[in-house]
Amino acid sequence: MRILITDCDHDSIAVEQEVAAAAGIELVLAQCHTEEEVIAAAADFDGIVVQYAPITARVMDALPQLKAIGRYGVGVDTLDIEAATARGIVVSNVPDYGTEDVSDHSICLAATLARGITRLDRELRAGSFSLESVKPLRRIRGRVFGVIGLGLIGAATGRKAKGLGYQVIGSDPARETGTRTEDGIEVFTMEQVLEQADVISLHVPLNAHTHHLVNDDFLAKVKDGAVLINTCRGGVVESAAVVRALRSGKLYGAGLDVFEEEPLPVDSDLLTEPNAVLTPHAAWYSEESYTELKSRALQNVIDVCAGKEPRNIYNPAALAASR
Ligand SMILES: NC(=O)c1ccc[n+]([C@@H]2O[C@H](COP(=O)([O-])OP(=O)(O)OC[C@H]3O[C@@H](n4cnc5c(N)ncnc54)[C@H](O)[C@@H]3O)[C@@H](O)[C@H]2O)c1
Repeated sequence: MRILITDCDHDSIAVEQEVAAAAGIELVLAQCHTEEEVIAAAADFDGIVVQYAPITARVMDALPQLKAIGRYGVGVDTLDIEAATARGIVVSNVPDYGTEDVSDHSICLAATLARGITRLDRELRAGSFSLESVKPLRRIRGRVFGVIGLGLIGAATGRKAKGLGYQVIGSDPARETGTRTEDGIEVFTMEQVLEQADVISLHVPLNAHTHHLVNDDFLAKVKDGAVLINTCRGGVVESAAVVRALRSGKLYGAGLDVFEEEPLPVDSDLLTEPNAVLTPHAAWYSEESYTELKSRALQNVIDVCAGKEPRNIYNPAALAASR
Protein backbone atom coordinates (compact mmCIF):
# COMPACT_ATOMS: atom_id res chain seq x y z
CA MET A 1 0.00 0.00 0.00
CA ARG A 2 1.37 3.45 -0.95
CA ILE A 3 0.06 6.66 0.53
CA LEU A 4 1.01 10.20 -0.46
CA ILE A 5 0.82 13.31 1.70
CA THR A 6 0.01 15.79 -1.08
CA ASP A 7 0.97 18.81 1.03
CA CYS A 8 1.29 19.97 4.61
CA ASP A 9 2.87 22.80 6.55
CA HIS A 10 3.78 20.65 9.57
CA ASP A 11 7.28 20.98 11.06
CA SER A 12 7.76 17.26 10.63
CA ILE A 13 5.91 14.12 9.56
CA ALA A 14 7.50 11.95 12.24
CA VAL A 15 4.08 11.09 13.67
CA GLU A 16 2.82 9.97 10.25
CA GLN A 17 6.01 7.99 9.65
CA GLU A 18 5.46 6.13 12.91
CA VAL A 19 1.87 5.26 11.91
CA ALA A 20 3.05 4.17 8.44
CA ALA A 21 5.82 1.99 9.90
CA ALA A 22 3.38 0.31 12.29
CA ALA A 23 1.06 -0.46 9.37
CA GLY A 24 3.91 -1.54 7.10
CA ILE A 25 3.01 0.85 4.29
CA GLU A 26 5.03 3.22 2.13
CA LEU A 27 4.48 6.92 2.88
CA VAL A 28 5.73 9.73 0.64
CA LEU A 29 5.60 13.50 1.26
CA ALA A 30 5.09 15.99 -1.57
CA GLN A 31 4.28 19.70 -1.55
CA CYS A 32 1.61 20.08 -4.26
CA HIS A 33 -0.25 23.34 -4.73
CA THR A 34 -2.02 22.81 -8.05
CA GLU A 35 -4.17 20.12 -9.68
CA GLU A 36 -1.32 19.30 -12.10
CA GLU A 37 1.14 18.81 -9.26
CA VAL A 38 -1.24 16.45 -7.42
CA ILE A 39 -1.92 14.46 -10.61
CA ALA A 40 1.81 14.07 -11.29
CA ALA A 41 2.76 13.23 -7.70
CA ALA A 42 -0.11 10.85 -6.82
CA ALA A 43 -0.08 8.69 -9.97
CA ASP A 44 0.78 5.39 -8.23
CA PHE A 45 -0.75 5.89 -4.82
CA ASP A 46 -3.72 4.12 -3.23
CA GLY A 47 -4.57 6.96 -0.89
CA ILE A 48 -3.71 10.59 -0.25
CA VAL A 49 -3.68 12.79 2.83
CA VAL A 50 -4.22 16.43 1.98
CA GLN A 51 -4.00 19.76 3.75
CA TYR A 52 -4.76 22.52 1.23
CA ALA A 53 -4.06 21.06 -2.25
CA PRO A 54 -7.09 21.17 -4.60
CA ILE A 55 -8.60 17.71 -5.07
CA THR A 56 -11.10 18.24 -7.86
CA ALA A 57 -13.09 15.90 -10.13
CA ARG A 58 -10.35 16.39 -12.74
CA VAL A 59 -7.69 15.21 -10.28
CA MET A 60 -9.79 12.15 -9.35
CA ASP A 61 -10.38 11.25 -13.00
CA ALA A 62 -6.63 11.38 -13.60
CA LEU A 63 -6.02 9.04 -10.64
CA PRO A 64 -8.20 5.97 -11.34
CA GLN A 65 -6.37 3.89 -8.69
CA LEU A 66 -7.17 6.34 -5.86
CA LYS A 67 -9.32 4.79 -3.10
CA ALA A 68 -9.15 7.22 -0.21
CA ILE A 69 -8.65 10.89 0.56
CA GLY A 70 -7.97 11.99 4.12
CA ARG A 71 -8.06 15.63 5.18
CA TYR A 72 -5.84 17.05 7.88
CA GLY A 73 -8.56 18.90 9.77
CA VAL A 74 -12.31 19.22 10.13
CA GLY A 75 -13.25 21.16 6.98
CA VAL A 76 -13.31 19.41 3.60
CA ASP A 77 -13.93 22.46 1.42
CA THR A 78 -10.75 21.87 -0.61
CA LEU A 79 -12.20 18.56 -1.82
CA ASP A 80 -15.00 17.90 -4.32
CA ILE A 81 -17.05 15.57 -2.14
CA GLU A 82 -19.75 14.93 -4.71
CA ALA A 83 -17.17 13.91 -7.30
CA ALA A 84 -15.42 11.64 -4.78
CA THR A 85 -18.67 9.92 -3.80
CA ALA A 86 -19.66 9.41 -7.45
CA ARG A 87 -16.27 7.75 -8.08
CA GLY A 88 -16.36 5.54 -4.97
CA ILE A 89 -13.49 7.44 -3.30
CA VAL A 90 -13.89 7.53 0.47
CA VAL A 91 -13.25 10.91 2.09
CA SER A 92 -12.35 11.13 5.76
CA ASN A 93 -11.58 14.01 8.12
CA VAL A 94 -10.77 14.34 11.83
CA PRO A 95 -13.76 16.19 13.26
CA ASP A 96 -12.95 16.03 16.97
CA TYR A 97 -9.17 16.27 17.26
CA GLY A 98 -9.35 19.69 18.89
CA THR A 99 -12.53 19.48 20.98
CA GLU A 100 -10.63 19.48 24.29
CA ASP A 101 -8.27 22.20 23.17
CA VAL A 102 -10.80 24.63 21.65
CA SER A 103 -13.07 24.28 24.68
CA ASP A 104 -10.06 24.84 27.00
CA HIS A 105 -9.21 27.95 25.00
CA SER A 106 -12.77 29.30 25.16
CA ILE A 107 -12.87 28.81 28.92
CA CYS A 108 -9.43 30.39 29.34
CA LEU A 109 -10.49 33.46 27.35
CA ALA A 110 -13.62 33.78 29.51
CA ALA A 111 -11.68 33.27 32.76
CA THR A 112 -8.96 35.72 31.68
CA LEU A 113 -11.58 38.41 31.14
CA ALA A 114 -13.51 37.46 34.28
CA ARG A 115 -10.37 38.18 36.34
CA GLY A 116 -8.98 41.03 34.21
CA ILE A 117 -5.73 39.12 33.82
CA THR A 118 -4.31 40.44 30.55
CA ARG A 119 -5.17 44.07 31.33
CA LEU A 120 -3.79 43.91 34.89
CA ASP A 121 -0.64 42.20 33.62
CA ARG A 122 -0.12 44.85 30.92
CA GLU A 123 -0.65 47.72 33.35
CA LEU A 124 1.54 46.22 36.09
CA ARG A 125 4.41 45.93 33.61
CA ALA A 126 3.80 49.60 32.69
CA GLY A 127 4.26 50.61 36.35
CA SER A 128 0.67 50.60 37.69
CA PHE A 129 -0.33 48.60 40.77
CA SER A 130 -4.05 49.44 40.66
CA LEU A 131 -7.29 47.53 40.11
CA GLU A 132 -9.23 50.54 38.86
CA SER A 133 -9.12 49.79 35.13
CA VAL A 134 -10.75 46.38 35.45
CA LYS A 135 -13.59 47.36 37.80
CA PRO A 136 -16.25 46.05 38.10
CA LEU A 137 -15.08 42.43 38.16
CA ARG A 138 -17.79 39.99 39.18
CA ARG A 139 -17.33 36.64 40.93
CA ILE A 140 -17.69 33.73 38.49
CA ARG A 141 -19.99 31.64 40.72
CA GLY A 142 -23.52 32.81 40.06
CA ARG A 143 -22.78 34.27 36.59
CA VAL A 144 -24.59 32.82 33.59
CA PHE A 145 -22.55 31.30 30.74
CA GLY A 146 -24.42 31.09 27.41
CA VAL A 147 -23.29 28.60 24.79
CA ILE A 148 -24.41 29.33 21.23
CA GLY A 149 -24.07 26.02 19.34
CA LEU A 150 -24.26 22.92 21.55
CA GLY A 151 -22.20 20.60 19.33
CA LEU A 152 -18.94 18.89 20.29
CA ILE A 153 -16.98 21.99 21.30
CA GLY A 154 -19.95 23.95 22.68
CA ALA A 155 -20.94 21.04 24.93
CA ALA A 156 -17.35 20.56 26.15
CA THR A 157 -17.08 24.30 26.87
CA GLY A 158 -20.37 24.18 28.77
CA ARG A 159 -19.13 21.29 30.94
CA LYS A 160 -15.95 23.17 31.79
CA ALA A 161 -17.85 26.40 32.48
CA LYS A 162 -19.99 24.46 34.99
CA GLY A 163 -16.83 23.26 36.68
CA LEU A 164 -15.78 26.89 37.20
CA GLY A 165 -19.09 27.69 38.87
CA TYR A 166 -21.06 29.26 36.04
CA GLN A 167 -24.73 28.47 35.52
CA VAL A 168 -24.71 27.20 31.94
CA ILE A 169 -27.46 27.69 29.39
CA GLY A 170 -27.39 27.29 25.63
CA SER A 171 -29.09 27.53 22.30
CA ASP A 172 -28.97 25.31 19.22
CA PRO A 173 -31.60 24.79 16.49
CA ALA A 174 -30.85 21.04 16.69
CA ARG A 175 -32.06 21.00 20.33
CA GLU A 176 -35.57 21.47 21.60
CA THR A 177 -36.11 24.61 23.66
CA GLY A 178 -37.12 23.80 27.22
CA THR A 179 -35.09 20.58 27.37
CA ARG A 180 -31.68 19.87 28.90
CA THR A 181 -28.66 18.35 27.18
CA GLU A 182 -26.96 15.17 28.44
CA ASP A 183 -24.66 17.50 30.42
CA GLY A 184 -27.60 19.26 32.04
CA ILE A 185 -27.29 22.45 29.99
CA GLU A 186 -30.67 24.18 29.80
CA VAL A 187 -31.72 24.84 26.19
CA PHE A 188 -33.32 28.21 25.42
CA THR A 189 -33.97 30.28 22.31
CA MET A 190 -31.02 32.42 21.27
CA GLU A 191 -32.90 35.58 22.32
CA GLN A 192 -33.41 34.12 25.81
CA VAL A 193 -29.73 33.23 26.05
CA LEU A 194 -28.74 36.77 25.04
CA GLU A 195 -31.11 38.23 27.66
CA GLN A 196 -29.71 36.07 30.49
CA ALA A 197 -26.05 35.38 29.79
CA ASP A 198 -23.12 37.26 31.31
CA VAL A 199 -20.76 35.40 28.96
CA ILE A 200 -21.75 34.42 25.42
CA SER A 201 -19.53 31.80 23.83
CA LEU A 202 -19.90 31.04 20.11
CA HIS A 203 -19.54 27.47 18.78
CA VAL A 204 -21.48 27.41 15.50
CA PRO A 205 -20.30 26.49 12.00
CA LEU A 206 -19.83 29.36 9.54
CA ASN A 207 -22.57 29.21 6.93
CA ALA A 208 -25.10 31.50 5.26
CA HIS A 209 -27.24 31.53 8.45
CA THR A 210 -24.41 32.29 10.88
CA HIS A 211 -22.39 34.76 8.79
CA HIS A 212 -22.34 38.00 10.87
CA LEU A 213 -24.69 36.38 13.40
CA VAL A 214 -23.08 38.76 15.89
CA ASN A 215 -23.88 42.22 14.54
CA ASP A 216 -25.35 45.45 15.99
CA ASP A 217 -28.81 43.82 16.35
CA PHE A 218 -27.43 40.80 18.20
CA LEU A 219 -25.32 42.95 20.51
CA ALA A 220 -28.27 45.26 21.26
CA LYS A 221 -30.00 42.21 22.82
CA VAL A 222 -27.16 41.13 25.14
CA LYS A 223 -26.98 42.12 28.80
CA ASP A 224 -25.14 45.35 29.54
CA GLY A 225 -21.54 44.50 30.39
CA ALA A 226 -21.60 41.00 28.87
CA VAL A 227 -18.49 39.25 27.59
CA LEU A 228 -18.31 37.74 24.08
CA ILE A 229 -16.08 34.75 23.32
CA ASN A 230 -15.45 33.59 19.75
CA THR A 231 -13.33 30.55 18.96
CA CYS A 232 -15.53 29.27 16.09
CA ARG A 233 -15.07 31.17 12.83
CA GLY A 234 -14.23 34.83 12.26
CA GLY A 235 -17.04 35.40 9.77
CA VAL A 236 -19.64 34.68 12.48
CA VAL A 237 -18.79 38.02 14.12
CA GLU A 238 -18.83 41.49 12.55
CA SER A 239 -15.67 42.98 14.07
CA ALA A 240 -16.79 46.60 13.66
CA ALA A 241 -19.96 45.90 15.68
CA VAL A 242 -17.88 44.35 18.48
CA VAL A 243 -15.58 47.38 18.54
CA ARG A 244 -18.63 49.68 18.80
CA ALA A 245 -20.07 47.57 21.64
CA LEU A 246 -16.76 47.57 23.54
CA ARG A 247 -16.44 51.36 23.17
CA SER A 248 -20.01 52.00 24.32
CA GLY A 249 -19.58 49.62 27.29
CA LYS A 250 -22.39 47.36 26.06
CA LEU A 251 -19.76 44.62 26.05
CA TYR A 252 -17.35 44.53 28.99
CA GLY A 253 -14.90 42.45 27.02
CA ALA A 254 -14.33 40.20 24.05
CA GLY A 255 -12.11 37.12 23.82
CA LEU A 256 -11.45 36.40 20.15
CA ASP A 257 -9.37 33.66 18.56
CA VAL A 258 -10.73 33.97 15.02
CA PHE A 259 -11.26 36.99 12.78
CA GLU A 260 -13.01 37.99 9.59
CA GLU A 261 -9.59 38.54 8.06
CA GLU A 262 -6.68 36.35 9.16
CA PRO A 263 -3.99 37.25 10.02
CA LEU A 264 -5.72 40.13 11.85
CA PRO A 265 -4.78 43.33 9.95
CA VAL A 266 -2.23 45.43 11.84
CA ASP A 267 -4.58 48.43 11.68
CA SER A 268 -7.56 46.54 13.16
CA ASP A 269 -9.47 48.62 15.72
CA LEU A 270 -9.60 45.54 17.94
CA LEU A 271 -5.89 45.90 18.64
CA THR A 272 -6.40 49.13 20.59
CA GLU A 273 -9.35 47.88 22.65
CA PRO A 274 -8.00 47.24 26.17
CA ASN A 275 -10.67 44.65 27.03
CA ALA A 276 -10.24 42.64 23.85
CA VAL A 277 -8.16 39.51 24.48
CA LEU A 278 -6.89 38.31 21.12
CA THR A 279 -5.16 35.08 20.03
CA PRO A 280 -4.02 34.07 16.51
CA HIS A 281 -6.40 31.18 15.62
CA ALA A 282 -4.59 29.16 18.26
CA ALA A 283 -7.50 27.43 19.99
CA TRP A 284 -7.08 24.11 18.19
CA TYR A 285 -3.43 23.76 19.07
CA SER A 286 -1.81 21.56 21.71
CA GLU A 287 0.92 18.99 21.15
CA GLU A 288 -1.71 16.32 21.85
CA SER A 289 -4.25 17.67 19.34
CA TYR A 290 -1.55 18.09 16.68
CA THR A 291 -0.38 14.49 17.13
CA GLU A 292 -3.96 13.21 17.09
CA LEU A 293 -4.74 15.16 13.91
CA LYS A 294 -1.74 13.76 12.05
CA SER A 295 -2.04 10.15 13.17
CA ARG A 296 -5.80 9.89 12.72
CA ALA A 297 -5.82 11.59 9.28
CA LEU A 298 -3.36 8.97 8.01
CA GLN A 299 -4.92 6.02 9.88
CA ASN A 300 -8.32 6.75 8.27
CA VAL A 301 -6.75 6.51 4.80
CA ILE A 302 -4.82 3.34 5.67
CA ASP A 303 -8.02 1.73 6.96
CA VAL A 304 -9.98 2.53 3.78
CA CYS A 305 -7.18 1.22 1.54
CA ALA A 306 -7.07 -1.95 3.66
CA GLY A 307 -10.79 -2.45 3.11
CA LYS A 308 -11.77 -1.48 6.66
CA GLU A 309 -14.27 1.16 7.74
CA PRO A 310 -12.33 4.22 8.96
CA ARG A 311 -13.07 5.85 12.34
CA ASN A 312 -14.28 8.97 10.51
CA ILE A 313 -15.96 8.98 7.16
CA TYR A 314 -17.32 12.08 5.50
CA ASN A 315 -19.13 10.47 2.56
CA PRO A 316 -20.44 7.09 3.80
CA ALA A 317 -22.27 6.61 0.48
CA ALA A 318 -18.85 6.14 -1.15
CA LEU A 319 -18.14 3.01 0.93
CA ALA A 320 -20.80 1.03 -0.92
CA ALA A 321 -19.31 1.99 -4.28
CA SER A 322 -15.74 1.86 -2.92
CA ARG A 323 -13.04 1.33 -5.58
N1 LIG B 1 -10.42 28.14 16.66
C1 LIG B 1 -10.06 26.93 16.27
O1 LIG B 1 -8.85 26.62 16.26
C2 LIG B 1 -11.10 25.91 15.90
C3 LIG B 1 -10.74 24.55 15.86
C4 LIG B 1 -11.73 23.58 15.57
C5 LIG B 1 -13.04 23.98 15.30
N2 LIG B 1 -13.35 25.33 15.32
C6 LIG B 1 -14.72 25.76 15.03
O2 LIG B 1 -15.56 25.52 16.16
C7 LIG B 1 -16.92 25.47 15.71
C8 LIG B 1 -17.69 24.36 16.42
O3 LIG B 1 -17.12 23.11 16.10
P1 LIG B 1 -17.77 21.73 16.60
O4 LIG B 1 -16.76 20.67 16.36
O5 LIG B 1 -18.35 21.91 17.96
O6 LIG B 1 -18.97 21.58 15.54
P2 LIG B 1 -20.31 20.73 15.70
O7 LIG B 1 -20.80 20.49 14.32
O8 LIG B 1 -20.10 19.56 16.61
O9 LIG B 1 -21.32 21.74 16.45
C9 LIG B 1 -21.86 22.89 15.86
C10 LIG B 1 -23.25 23.08 16.47
O10 LIG B 1 -23.74 24.36 16.08
C11 LIG B 1 -25.15 24.22 15.91
N3 LIG B 1 -25.65 25.36 15.15
C12 LIG B 1 -25.68 25.53 13.82
N4 LIG B 1 -26.23 26.73 13.52
C13 LIG B 1 -26.55 27.32 14.70
C14 LIG B 1 -27.14 28.56 15.06
N5 LIG B 1 -27.51 29.44 14.12
N6 LIG B 1 -27.33 28.84 16.36
C15 LIG B 1 -26.95 27.96 17.32
N7 LIG B 1 -26.39 26.76 17.04
C16 LIG B 1 -26.18 26.45 15.75
C17 LIG B 1 -25.31 22.87 15.22
O11 LIG B 1 -26.63 22.38 15.36
C18 LIG B 1 -24.28 22.04 15.99
O12 LIG B 1 -24.87 21.39 17.11
C19 LIG B 1 -16.87 25.33 14.17
O13 LIG B 1 -17.14 26.60 13.59
C20 LIG B 1 -15.43 24.99 13.91
O14 LIG B 1 -15.02 25.45 12.65
C21 LIG B 1 -12.43 26.28 15.62
